[in-house]
Amino acid sequence: MTGPRIVLVGPMGVGKTTVGELLAERLGTTFRDTDADIVAAEGREIAEIFVDDGEPHFRELERQAVRAALAEHPGVLALGGGAVLDAGTRELLAEQTVVYLSMDVEEAVKRTGLNAARPLLAVNPRKQWRELMEARRHLYTDTARVVVATDGRTPEEVADAVLDALEWKEA
Ligand code: S3P
Repeated sequence: MTGPRIVLVGPMGVGKTTVGELLAERLGTTFRDTDADIVAAEGREIAEIFVDDGEPHFRELERQAVRAALAEHPGVLALGGGAVLDAGTRELLAEQTVVYLSMDVEEAVKRTGLNAARPLLAVNPRKQWRELMEARRHLYTDTARVVVATDGRTPEEVADAVLDALEWKEA
């Protein structure tokens, strides 16, 4: 099967980009991020897309970005935190090596609570996080082949845990 070696999913702020870059380095491959692809293609920030065109439109753009990346990118791929909400996107991920990077609500609030650049968390972050996690947890676990908890771990430790979970050794 072609396509990325690893696809990372999980909530915003869990470290998909940082861990994804480390994994790519260890596997001697490249890293790609569908959020960055969307920003580059649209020429505007994700927050602007949400405000201007709404979340459903963003999810469509995201599905297209995921489809393109799965077809073109052989390395490590990170998806936006809400990508798994879209049934079409979940279908695209069915045969992929998907890793769910998880964290608990308190860790999430600590890491992202004050980050206003993330439009879904602008107001009452703890409540938003609880609701987000409850709505999404099963979608992440259903989509992923393995789950790696990130709480209290450095990005290096998380990358090790991902490789262990997939039983890959460093080159
Ligand atoms: C979102 C997560 C963001 C980005 C957008 C929506 C979400 O990605 O795609 O703001 O719904 O959780 P990151 O997980 O990379 O922050």
